[in-house]
Amino acid sequence: MQNDRHPSGAPWRNFYGRFRGKTIRSSQKDYLDNDLDALSPGPVGWDVNPDRVPLDPATILGGRPLWLEIGFGAGEHMVAMAQRYPDIGLIGCEPFINGVAMLLGKIRRAEVSNLAVHPGDVRDLFDVLPEGCIEKAFLNYPDPWPKTRHHRRRFVTAEHLDPLYRVLRPGAAFRVATDIPDYVRQTLAEVPKAGFVLQTELPDGMGVPWDDWISTRYEMKALREGRRPHYLTFRKPA
Ligand SMILES: C[S@@+](CC[C@H](N)C(=O)[O-])C[C@H]1O[C@@H](n2cnc3c(N)ncnc32)[C@H](O)[C@@H]1O
Repeated sequence: MQNDRHPSGAPWRNFYGRFRGKTIRSSQKDYLDNDLDALSPGPVGWDVNPDRVPLDPATILGGRPLWLEIGFGAGEHMVAMAQRYPDIGLIGCEPFINGVAMLLGKIRRAEVSNLAVHPGDVRDLFDVLPEGCIEKAFLNYPDPWPKTRHHRRRFVTAEHLDPLYRVLRPGAAFRVATDIPDYVRQTLAEVPKAGFVLQTELPDGMGVPWDDWISTRYEMKALREGRRPHYLTFRKPA
């Protein structure tokens, strides 16, 4: 029988994306070496928190209300939201280290101080966040996994949605942006199963961006290639 635990005690969690891409520039290495630790929301990884002791939200970003961005890519939405909402604390998760380095460069240039970064899988963060501590969550252009046999890898599956629901405060919004019609289909089918209620009016509302929406790299690519963005808002019932 296959052991379902890593030697560190961590559960095996398949991650099918990329952890590292092309060479990291020396300036980006500098950001990773010198800036990343100070942006930690606290001990998240199994190596540093094997007992999965919950984080204390009051100690994260000065006790500001907390928002969460899942898979921030190169971080343009993170930084723009942090600038726009200085009284909010925004935690971002991204396992792709080149993306993390790009975010760190943007943070230096924008001089924002209301961001925290977990350079890894959001499921590890879910383990250590107390119930109801996140006031809003963003899922922008999640990996599409177009092949039918890979749909179970998508974020919009119970493995991710159930713990997301737990960490959100009652009444909290969960925003999903995607350019893949079949991703919309799966989102509309799976997110309500986790307990969320759809807020977006269908079908016309699907193409209307939020008032404070910042287009991301993936969205710009989708638009260039003629795909239509969809914007869906769900809410955890109050
Ligand atoms: C298609 S990219 C979109 C990036 C960005 N949100 C944008 O719109 O440009 C999806 C991102 O989600 C990240 N991702 C995938 N699974 C994740 C997980 N379990 N936790 C955190 N991020 C994840 C990937 O590494 C990738 O950078």
